[in-house]
Amino acid sequence: MRVGMLTSGGDCQALNATMRGVGKALFNLFDDLEIYGFESGYHGLIYSEYHKMERSDFSGILNIGGTILGTSRTPFKTINEPDENGLDKVEAMKHTYRQLRLDCLVVLGGNGSLKTANLLSQSGLNVVACPKTIDNDLWGTDMTFGFHSAVNIATEAIDCIHTTAASHKRVFIVEIMGHKVGLMTLYAGLAGGADIILIPEIPYHIDAVCNKILERYKYGSKFSIIAVAEGAISYEDSLKSKKDYKKKLAERKYPSVSYELADEVFKRTGIEVRVTVPGHTQRGGAPVPYDRVLATRFGIEAAQLIKKQDFGNMVALVKNDIVKVPLKDIAGKLKYVNPDSQIVKEAKLLGISFGD
Ligand code: F6P
Repeated sequence: MRVGMLTSGGDCQALNATMRGVGKALFNLFDDLEIYGFESGYHGLIYSEYHKMERSDFSGILNIGGTILGTSRTPFKTINEPDENGLDKVEAMKHTYRQLRLDCLVVLGGNGSLKTANLLSQSGLNVVACPKTIDNDLWGTDMTFGFHSAVNIATEAIDCIHTTAASHKRVFIVEIMGHKVGLMTLYAGLAGGADIILIPEIPYHIDAVCNKILERYKYGSKFSIIAVAEGAISYEDSLKSKKDYKKKLAERKYPSVSYELADEVFKRTGIEVRVTVPGHTQRGGAPVPYDRVLATRFGIEAAQLIKKQDFGNMVALVKNDIVKVPLKDIAGKLKYVNPDSQIVKEAKLLGISFGD
C-alpha cells in the first residue's frame, strides 16, 4: 500500500494531529506500507516535491500547531491554467501520483482544496479527504478540525479586551477571521460575551449598531464589545453588485470593515472606539483537546476508508458520528450561518444585537 498525503490551503490547528491519526492507523492496518508526504500542499504534488514518511514522523506531533508538511494556497479557479512555464498542473499532479505508484492520496484541506481533491478524484485518482479549517464552513460536516482552537483564541482576545474596554468606557471592535462565513465570530462573540455580533450572513444597519451602544450607555454600561467578522457587510453594501462591492473594497481607505465601522460609530455616538485584530494568531498554537480528539478520529476513519478501498470521500462529523460523505456531493458548497437558526435566535434573546 502506497499512500500520498498533503495539507493544503491556510493552515490551522490539528493538521498534525490528523496526519498522526491517519499515519498511526495505517501502520497498524497494513504490514507493507509506504507513506509519501508532499511538501507545501498541491505544490509538492505538482512539482514532485515529497519525502517518505516514517512511523517516527507521526510521533510527538499531536499537540503541535501548523503542519509538518508545510502548506500553500493553490487556487482552484486557476488550477486548469498552465503555470508560468506552461506546465499543465492537473496533468502534473496525476503524473506524480502515477510515477510514485500511489494507491491513494489523502488531502487535508478546506473549501478550495477539496474542490481540487474532487477534480483529482473525478479524473481517476483514489482520494480521501479530511475537513480542515478554522472557519468550519465546509458543507457535509457539522465540524471541521481547527474551529474550536481558533474560537478559543478569539474568545481569549475578547476576554482581554473586556477589562480594558470597561476601564476606559470605550467601544471595542474585535475582528474575527471569516470572509464569507460568520460561524467563528458567532461562537467567539457568544463565548466572549460580545454585545454586538456582525457576520456576513446578516448585513448590519449602522443605526442599529449605534442604537445598541447608546442604549447600553443609557442603562449604565459605558462600554460595548463588537465582534465583527472579516466579511461583515453593511446593509447598503449588501445591495451592491459583487463587482461594485469589490470596487468599493479596492478603493476604500480602511484596511478592513472594522476600521470603517469604528469611524462610523465614533461619528454617530461620540464614544471612543478602538479596533483589535487578532488575525493569524487565531490559526496558531496548539490545538484544544476537542480538536485533537476530532482530528484523531477523522484520521483513523480516513485510514479505515483506505483499508476498505472506499475512495472519493471526505470524512465528516454528523450528529456526533464519524461518517464519510462523497466528495462530489460537498465540493464547492459552503455551510453558512442561517440567520433564522436556533443559535442566532438564542443570542438575540440574550440581548445581543446583530445589527439587523
Ligand atoms: O480559510 C481560513 C482563513 O483563516 C480565513 O478565516 C481567513 O479569511 C483566511 O484564511 C486568511 O487567509 P491568508 O492566511 O491567506 O491571509
